[in-house]
Amino acid sequence: MQTQTFSAMIVEESEPRKFIREIRSRGIDDLPAGDLLVKVHYSSLNYKDALSATGRPGVTRHYPHTPGIDAAGVVVECAGKAFAPGDNVIVTGYDLGMETDGGYGQFIRIPSEWALPLPAGLSLRESMILGTAGFTAGLSVWKLLQNGVQPGDGDVLVTGATGGVGSIAVAILARAGYRVVAATGKAAESEFLHALGAAEVIDRESVLAGAERPMMKERWTGVVDVVGGEMLAAAIKSTRYGGTVTCCGLVGSADLAVNVFPFILRGVSLLGIDSAQCPRRSREAVWEKLAGEWKPAALEATASECTLHSLEEHIQKMLSGGARGRTLVNLLES
Ligand SMILES: NC(=O)c1ccc[n+]([C@@H]2O[C@H](COP(=O)([O-])OP(=O)(O)OC[C@H]3O[C@@H](n4cnc5c(N)ncnc54)[C@H](OP(=O)(O)O)[C@@H]3O)[C@@H](O)[C@H]2O)c1
Repeated sequence: MQTQTFSAMIVEESEPRKFIREIRSRGIDDLPAGDLLVKVHYSSLNYKDALSATGRPGVTRHYPHTPGIDAAGVVVECAGKAFAPGDNVIVTGYDLGMETDGGYGQFIRIPSEWALPLPAGLSLRESMILGTAGFTAGLSVWKLLQNGVQPGDGDVLVTGATGGVGSIAVAILARAGYRVVAATGKAAESEFLHALGAAEVIDRESVLAGAERPMMKERWTGVVDVVGGEMLAAAIKSTRYGGTVTCCGLVGSADLAVNVFPFILRGVSLLGIDSAQCPRRSREAVWEKLAGEWKPAALEATASECTLHSLEEHIQKMLSGGARGRTLVNLLES
């Protein structure tokens, strides 16, 4: 019997350290082992996808490879009892799109434990406008709340605010009642950030003013940081007594040079955020919030849509720090 084929992005190392991306036809039988086969309707572009698609170190080691750490679609086959054909599911993180062929193909085969039923209140499309970036933003806000940062306590800083994680974090925090200060390198996107719910938009350089000192003026009651490096260090040094900083990203730098003063003199907490291996119970709780009381009103306004064929320009834009909001990848039209 002839195997069913589908379109997928294949990234290949054509010569040492040179990676090419092509949209090719693949067979379903060639997908990795797993008890769940899903027809992918939508995926999205995350920073990790841009790294995997271009062969940057730290995400994918084995090529040829199909990236895409996010996928939302419909179950075709499930060997166990977890899902039935026709169920809508979302898959974010675990090994999807890292070493396991991911959402930039019209089908994925995965262990069923990686999938969640699509939460009521979200369409497949909306779930991927959120995707890993939105889930990470949600997890960051959830951790701030768990650590006692309440709306009304003071300003919450979001760095890399026009990016995927940043823009959704601004929207969620505003929806949850926090006063959000959005730090960006893109002065021209001030209106976009205000429309998402930022009370104030500041130049990212202004977060760094005075950062040469061991501690800075107290400004933030909470921080959602995606940048790392100097930006994260400055955010920690300017967090108010008892405040909390979440750290999920490294677009600026993976290094962090701080002294212990903010921690031992101001009781500041630094919380790490990992979306990929996040336990299922927390995953479900955060997705329920994202589908309900935190669902950004302007979700569509954060999204640009593309197909596999037009993904390249979005990958390049993201790697140059120029991305705005989220990029939804439509696999139905790819
Ligand atoms: N830990 C986790 O589970 C997890 C999950 C998702 C993402 N992440 C990480 O979070 C980070 C952001 O991901 P994303 O998908 O939101 O990426 P993104 O859409 O590319 O957004 C990053 C934003 O950061 C700002 N930026 C870029 N380069 C910068 C630099 N050199 N210095 C300061 N700011 C810079 C830009 O916003 P402005 O121009 O507005 O400043 C950019 O739009 C990445 O490092 C990603 O790997 C981690």
